[in-house]
Amino acid sequence: MTTILPVTNSALSSPAPGTPLRRQGWPGLIEAYRPFLPVTEITPVVTLQEGNTPLIPVPAISAIIGRDVRVLVKYDGLNPTGSFKDRGMTMAISKAKEEGAKAVICASTGNTSAAAAAYARRGGMRAFVLIPEGYVALGKLAQALLYGAEVISIKGNFDRALEIVREMAVNYPVTLVNSVNPYRLEGQKTGAFEVVDVLGDAPDWLCIPVGNAGNITAYWMGFCQYHQAKKCTRLPQMMGFQAAGAAPLVTGEPVSHPETLATAIRIGNPASWKQAIAASEASRGGFAAVTDAEILEAYRLLASQEGIFCEPASAASVAGLLKVKDKVPAGATVVCVLTGNGLKDPDTAITHSNNQFKKGVEPVLEAVASVMGF
Ligand code: F0G
Repeated sequence: MTTILPVTNSALSSPAPGTPLRRQGWPGLIEAYRPFLPVTEITPVVTLQEGNTPLIPVPAISAIIGRDVRVLVKYDGLNPTGSFKDRGMTMAISKAKEEGAKAVICASTGNTSAAAAAYARRGGMRAFVLIPEGYVALGKLAQALLYGAEVISIKGNFDRALEIVREMAVNYPVTLVNSVNPYRLEGQKTGAFEVVDVLGDAPDWLCIPVGNAGNITAYWMGFCQYHQAKKCTRLPQMMGFQAAGAAPLVTGEPVSHPETLATAIRIGNPASWKQAIAASEASRGGFAAVTDAEILEAYRLLASQEGIFCEPASAASVAGLLKVKDKVPAGATVVCVLTGNGLKDPDTAITHSNNQFKKGVEPVLEAVASVMGF
């Protein structure tokens, strides 16, 4: 007879990093990193067990760089709604609920809206999302609608949508859950904790796509806090990559009409501009721009050589690394953050795959074998 052990609270409290429990009983990042987060025993934790995403070695990319450089990707597209935004949203929505909010609002290029919708609805709140019309990948829009968000598209870009929701939150009873909400960054910093927990120390370089610049700010916060807590002995150089048509942190000027196929980072005036510059300077890192062609190259490379399907904006981190590969110190460990899942944007995958599929084949063995070249 099988004995069924009762689930005890200990199974839900912080598992020791690196233990098998991490896989078996992952309780979501708030419980896992509670001592590092601004939550109390009265915070109602709204979680979908986000976090604990894999850190996957990418040998084909390491080989391109050579010189014993080890590259790994933090595949945050495996979070519950398919992007790193879930890390921030579990915190922002839990705190909004604690404060009695009945509704939340965000501007979004898509992923924030999907995460806000999922967590808000799970927490029993209304979710309003403002998106730039025509520039949100289909999967993200599908998610926001199905999760039950109230979706409003504006004839303007993300930067304008963010200005509007910031004003809305001042004037109406809605809580803003964009990354200007400090709880968002608190949640997102756990990505850095997980990288250190798995590697045993901070990497030499952390490559990350930059749009509104919240995530680079959050990762830097995370590494610094872990360093202070003596969980790592060093800090990584923070390397931020933007799409060439939307690269204000590279040019030093806001971009009034940002353009890129990587719609997630089609942002001209990042809210966390100053913090991102501070992170890059303090870590002796830097920013660089990658073209859409370079993003697509990395996007296809990750899928076809490594078996990892991320969205175009995420591939900017790998495209950027490959662009500046000669600057990586020999023997370095590099982590690239893959922020979102490729399934978010099937249109781009189908349009920009170099692969063709054979259509209209007769449903007989010989015909199939013949197109296979047998
Ligand atoms: N990668 C993906 C897949 C994103 O969705 C975003 C931002 C970023 C990178 C950039 O992160 O803004 O913190 O610098 N997406 C936001 C959204 C803007 O609305 O979903 P960031």
